[in-house]
Amino acid sequence: MRPTQDDRIPTVDLQTDRAHPARVYDYLLGGKTNFAADRVAGDLIVEEWPGSLASARASRAVMHRMARRLAETHGIRQFLDVGTGIPTEPNLHEIAQRVDPAARVVYVDNDPIVLAHARALLTSTPQGRTAYIDCDLRDPEKLLADGALHGTLDLDRPVALTLINIVHFLSDEAVQPLVARLLDALPAGSFLALTAGTADSAPEQAEVASRRYREAGIENHLRTRAGVERFFAGLELDDPGVALINRWHPELDDGPRLADHEVMAYAGLARKP
Ligand SMILES: C[S@@+](CC[C@H](N)C(=O)[O-])C[C@H]1O[C@@H](n2cnc3c(N)ncnc32)[C@H](O)[C@@H]1O
Repeated sequence: MRPTQDDRIPTVDLQTDRAHPARVYDYLLGGKTNFAADRVAGDLIVEEWPGSLASARASRAVMHRMARRLAETHGIRQFLDVGTGIPTEPNLHEIAQRVDPAARVVYVDNDPIVLAHARALLTSTPQGRTAYIDCDLRDPEKLLADGALHGTLDLDRPVALTLINIVHFLSDEAVQPLVARLLDALPAGSFLALTAGTADSAPEQAEVASRRYREAGIENHLRTRAGVERFFAGLELDDPGVALINRWHPELDDGPRLADHEVMAYAGLARKP
């Protein structure tokens, strides 16, 4: 199951009778790719923690701002987005291609449900290009050898590696070498854009969310600011450094202004020297 063009996307059992984490997230984001079971699960989360809607939307909105800053301020035209999630408009390529229609984006996820919806990610402008690779972050060699990666991005030119809301699924010991390996394959002038869950700003809510994931059998790791800064060792951190997502360039959108205790993640962007 490794499509690179939409006619190669296989049929997947969507299991619409049960809630799926990516579709529940889509529901919380106000997306359309969800079914009754997902909406019931989403409503239960909102009942227990009404702020979860705003928090989920803030997590997605910071991806939009990071893509804009990368394209507008840093001139990045190539993106490698690992942990893409279910397509939710605007997707990363739509943001980047608003700045330059020739921007190119490779999306990567390991979830068959995301794969089933990947066609919505392959809606590039004619001048640009997008591809979807069904791959696991834990297998960077497979990703780096993929023909769709090389057919879409020129790895001799700067690339932004975007890891948005994914590293909390992995421990530091597991994920740090993976990020280092991927950055190693990218040239100087490339960027790392990353968001990571934290309990620093809202300890009780973070504990509830973390427990719910664990109860569902999903490993998750919350990080302190110093823990998130470790991802950027050896890189040149962009302004304002590692910051809570509500404080990361809020001027780049006109979304709601949230207080620190309403968000549960840090964001950081850095350039490879
Ligand atoms: C919370 S969603 C984030 C989606 C999107 N980046 C966003 O911020 O809106 C996390 C995504 O990471 C994917 N993911 C989790 N672990 C992964 C892994 N080891 N390799 C690839 N994708 C992974 C999940 O399937 C899911 O689609």
